[in-house]
Amino acid sequence: MAGSVRDQVLRVVELAAQHPQGIAPIVRAGDPVLRATALPYDGQLTGGELAALLAVMHRTLRAAPGVGLAAPQIGLPLALAVVEDPVSDAARERVPVPFRVLVNPSYQAVGDELVAHQEGCLSVPGYAAVVARYRRVRLVGHDERGAVLDEELVGWPARIVQHETDHLRGTLYVDTADLRTLTAVG
Ligand code: CO
Repeated sequence: MAGSVRDQVLRVVELAAQHPQGIAPIVRAGDPVLRATALPYDGQLTGGELAALLAVMHRTLRAAPGVGLAAPQIGLPLALAVVEDPVSDAARERVPVPFRVLVNPSYQAVGDELVAHQEGCLSVPGYAAVVARYRRVRLVGHDERGAVLDEELVGWPARIVQHETDHLRGTLYVDTADLRTLTAVG
């Protein structure tokens, strides 16, 4: 895509402002941006521009609806993701996650325990499949104010973070899913 990543962000924010819900279109599998490694966020945007982008991402996530959205999913090759999950489900170790922003996130496994659950992706609409993921991970990165994130996550919140962080490296859940479980949904 032409132009600096800042130009791309400003274009997405401007287009979203013209949408009645203030949301951006979600990019689908097949678009090269979903297979690229996102650029680290290193202050390419002013504080106001970053806030405007994150607001678009939040509205887009809620409208979808989904529990996580990475910037490449709205066509932006930038290492940012938003997460928000209102659902509780003890069987999946799923607990509500308030809205949060991940800037330049990375994770590593804590232990080697894997848990298999069905998941989907807003960029692969209409399908779900079982993916084995680390039950526990250490998340490292920053929040939108530049504060350091370094925390251990378990269960569904750990799954969401793995899924969204993988997006920033050009990985989709279908790459590691058990495709024999692929299910048409919705
Ligand atoms: Co996804």
